Amino acid sequence: MWGYSQRFVDPPKRTKVSSVTIQYMTPGATLAVPSGAARPRLAFHGTGYLGATYAVCFAELGYEVLGYDVDAPKIAKLTGGNVPFHEPGLDEMLRKNVAAGRLRFTTSIEEAAAFGDIHFVCVGTPQRPDSMAADLSHVEDVVVRLAPHLHRKALIVGKSTVPVGTAEWVEQLVRRHAPDGSEIEVAWSPEFLQEGHAVEDVLRPNRVIFGVRSEWAGAMLYAAHKGVFDLATTEDREVPVVVTNFATAELVKVAANAFLATKISFINAMAEICEPAGADVTQLARALGYDARIGNRFLRAGVGFGGGCLPKDIRAFQARAQELGVGEALRFLHEVDLINQRRRQWVVQLAAELLGRPFGPAGPDLSGVKVAVLGATFKPNSDDVRDSPALSVVRKLSRSGAEVSVFDPEGMENARREVPDATYARSVVEAVTGADLVCVLTEWEEFRTADPVVLGGLAAGKVVIDGRNCLDPVLWRRAGWEYRGMGRPA
Ligand code: UDX
Repeated sequence: MWGYSQRFVDPPKRTKVSSVTIQYMTPGATLAVPSGAARPRLAFHGTGYLGATYAVCFAELGYEVLGYDVDAPKIAKLTGGNVPFHEPGLDEMLRKNVAAGRLRFTTSIEEAAAFGDIHFVCVGTPQRPDSMAADLSHVEDVVVRLAPHLHRKALIVGKSTVPVGTAEWVEQLVRRHAPDGSEIEVAWSPEFLQEGHAVEDVLRPNRVIFGVRSEWAGAMLYAAHKGVFDLATTEDREVPVVVTNFATAELVKVAANAFLATKISFINAMAEICEPAGADVTQLARALGYDARIGNRFLRAGVGFGGGCLPKDIRAFQARAQELGVGEALRFLHEVDLINQRRRQWVVQLAAELLGRPFGPAGPDLSGVKVAVLGATFKPNSDDVRDSPALSVVRKLSRSGAEVSVFDPEGMENARREVPDATYARSVVEAVTGADLVCVLTEWEEFRTADPVVLGGLAAGKVVIDGRNCLDPVLWRRAGWEYRGMGRPA
């Protein structure tokens, strides 16, 4: 495996990468872009969170970009300059680049095929309903739909998070569906976007990965990222590039997410120990984090991880390891998942304990208790409620008989769709008024800075569970609240 630092070198002319020799060409000089354009024209297939963000950001970097999707209303929305999800900074950038003519959207696969030198596959790979494995049907759809229309040389680049081995399978699909004699190549270049931070993550990535088989594919990917590298150079930054084979590139993404999930579950396991031992997990995490080998990021204990990536990715990874005959290697990820699930149940148990409610055979009985839940999204600065710990707790509280009133600054519409039978408040004030218990389950700024004195005057009972350890216990206790964090002394 080989990487270079953009700051110091332009890619060398020829370098050894695994068993493949990659020839790099100075973009625009010797690289013949199939469409004849000066820079490769980029098509993004799937304009959900990943594809739309990439399309907008690469247009911002100066590329000619086309976003393709089968979802006509979504394409109409994007064409009209509206991002169909919440991502800070993306709306303005979309409008600016649509107006500049660099960015267009279409539902015509023929148009996308004729346009693109590089086709990025950005569709979802959700968990299958019947197993832990990833559902690759959307990836298959894109390739099968696109390949027959590719009448000149092009590169298909996978960005979606997939089980290792998918790129080779995509190559076979292309061979089966592309016109005879067409020179279509495949590459894999995983993304590492964090919701709420995605624009920065595309424009200023901490690394880029090229999983390639040929010199031409490497050179095309380099040309497609020249804008990213140039921006880094002007800001005196480095963007490490790792050029590798398909399998390694695919694994980088799932291994990274498995590591992050493990780190979170590790600190949540420590939180479980801290509770009975009388220790404070926030101080423990701080002390651990000063060791540079451990680092302090992703060590925030709380109600655990959620979202459209970490939970399903660690499951799909286990399923794939089993298929490869090495299931034991990832057995620990099952434990990581279990620790994560326990965090959600712990909030309900703690609620019953704090309110002196009985535990029946079916668990805690919270009938008649009014609970204000602040937060519905899986993290702040996002409207995404997929596998959200907050909503999972809402369901569990309701099942225990509690009357739950939920408020979230951005996630209300999605939450309503996901859990229609909960009550939704229009503000923090409305949610908290008359509540016996307040649970803060997503660390939105608005909740972190809420005034406990004001809220104390509205609630029926001054009991708060801080599921993200994001409130100041001193302030809340001083205002008369019984405060309980996650893994912190009572
Ligand atoms: C994640 C990866 O970070 C990203 O690299 C990948 O491309 C997609 O998956 P994202 O799903 O946006 O990104 O969320 P992330 O910021 O990683 O948080 C995931 C979950 O973990 C959230 O629910 C968050 O609240 C939780 N979390 C995070 C913790 O509970 N504690 C922490 O210390 C960090």
